[in-house]
Amino acid sequence: MSDLSVHYLGIRLKNPIIVSSSGLTNSISKIERLVDAGAGAIVLKSLFEEQINQDISNEIYKSEGFDYPEALDYVKGYVRENDISSYLQLIKEAKSRFDVPIIASVNCYSVNEWVDFAKQIENAGADALELNVFVVNTDKNSIAIEYEQIYYDVLSNVKNVISIPVAMKLGSYFSNLVSVVNRLNISGAKGVVLFNRFYEPDVDINNMTLTSADVFSTPSDYQKTLRWVAIVSSKVNGVDVSASTGIHSAESVIKQILVGAKTVQVCSAVYKNGPKIITKMIEDIEIWMSQKHISSLSSVCGKLNYNSISEPYLFERAQFMKYFSNLE
Ligand SMILES: Cc1cc2nc3c(=O)[nH]c(=O)nc-3n(C[C@H](O)[C@H](O)[C@H](O)COP(=O)(O)O)c2cc1C
Repeated sequence: MSDLSVHYLGIRLKNPIIVSSSGLTNSISKIERLVDAGAGAIVLKSLFEEQINQDISNEIYKSEGFDYPEALDYVKGYVRENDISSYLQLIKEAKSRFDVPIIASVNCYSVNEWVDFAKQIENAGADALELNVFVVNTDKNSIAIEYEQIYYDVLSNVKNVISIPVAMKLGSYFSNLVSVVNRLNISGAKGVVLFNRFYEPDVDINNMTLTSADVFSTPSDYQKTLRWVAIVSSKVNGVDVSASTGIHSAESVIKQILVGAKTVQVCSAVYKNGPKIITKMIEDIEIWMSQKHISSLSSVCGKLNYNSISEPYLFERAQFMKYFSNLE
């Protein structure tokens, strides 16, 4: 019997397949289908700082106007509390119904905004918290550390008030990712999710307007993550890496585990194929393990990471020079 269990953020998962934060994980009925299909853990849909602010603006817009500043404050407070309490209710219900770890997620950009809320998430029973921070820096006079400091400050402030493990979900736009992850680890992160796939703008050349690019990843997108999972998992001890983006099959799960991921996160594959893709991934991993006479999946975690192979520079090679210079 194959043992697919892994430890991520100090929590035992029956298998490494986590359904990542998205519309797939925003209700009990949807989560139930994912758990029935075999998901190892669930990251709930993020509560967005922007969303709460938008809800507040909508409420103010709908109102006739306020005679008293207190009334405005009341509406702001009410909408905020309402959004937050629905989210806390989802955590409580998911925890009481399902026997897989439930990871809450917040998307924030204000350093102090989420501190109280993080405490409430912990009290509601979430097993861990994923912080989804993304700041687009367009200031040509700023330096990288100013931008990175936002990530460290958000994390430290949250870690000061909660004791459940925190993972940082990052984008890939860092000039020195290994150093950033190391600093995040020092600031209290138990894990990193590499990488988030953001909403990308595109251009409609006929109407000459901006549009949205495809929101879903493709199966080859896992390759963008592989190098950094291998390097970060080797270089930063004490941080668990969860591989995200482009995981569409058992093969890409196994590859990420071999290069050092403790878990993987799936999103587009489930949107495209339904929860049954999770069952199929698990079955195919079991077949691979039995063919390779591997009884425990975690025993091969990191077998091909940067520190474990004799030619680690293969992960550093970024130019085409040697291998593809003859390609016509
Ligand atoms: C429709 C949709 C909604 C998403 N919502 C969130 C979200 O609320 N929070 C978050 O951290 N990531 C969100 N994501 C990003 C996914 O969690 C995931 O990181 C990304 O899609 C890459 O994984 P994939 O290649 O398996 O799709 C969303 C993605 C999609 C497609």
